[in-house]
Amino acid sequence: MAMEMVELTIDGQKIKAPKGSTVLEAARSAGIKIPTLCHLKDINEIGACRVCVVEVQGARSLQASCVLPVSEGMVIRTNSPAVRESRKTTVELLLSDHKRECLTCVRNTNCELQNLAEELGIRDIPYEGEKSKHPIDDFSPSIVRDAEKCILCRRCVSACSKLQGVAVISPNERGFETVIAPAFNQSLNDVACTMCGQCINVCPVGALKEKEEIDKVWEALADPEKHVVVQTAPAIRVS
Ligand code: FES
Repeated sequence: MAMEMVELTIDGQKIKAPKGSTVLEAARSAGIKIPTLCHLKDINEIGACRVCVVEVQGARSLQASCVLPVSEGMVIRTNSPAVRESRKTTVELLLSDHKRECLTCVRNTNCELQNLAEELGIRDIPYEGEKSKHPIDDFSPSIVRDAEKCILCRRCVSACSKLQGVAVISPNERGFETVIAPAFNQSLNDVACTMCGQCINVCPVGALKEKEEIDKVWEALADPEKHVVVQTAPAIRVS
């Protein structure tokens, strides 16, 4: 059966898109770039970060394009002054509660938040206020979790549950206190984490990373003759 299509206009271009698809998908199919942070196709489509907002003619507020279904006759602007201002403010707010150690971060120059700040021309952060304080969890033999770098996009949550079926990380607490962690903010070492690393793969920033000593762990596991003792449970650091 032929797929039902709808026609919409994005940035002046007439575009045909399958009914049920999103404005983000329609824009991408036409080569129009809309930035995203929390979105991971088919895995994390929750409209959390609001970086992908667009103007919809006739709507009273900006809409998140990653969760906005296309409809016949829709008129969208992806790069208007209001859209650019909103995206910039969103990223400035994320940066206002983000650990700023980019130069020494493992994701330096390969960080989606850093790249977005650059693209949006952010040169200072106007919102100084309370900062989240969370200890680094480096008890796991392979994964280090630094919640002070987390932007709460929940990509790791979805990868852990939907891709891997493990589901050991989830949002804890509420509002400003929210932290993405195992239940009751336990260490990854104290839950059924399989150390698959998918959470690291999908993290847009440096909130999850491979432990630097990971090579030694794999060497030890691969060579039983070596009897290398894997160092576990170093003290939690609070920075
Ligand atoms: Fe659309 Fe985050 S990418 S809300």
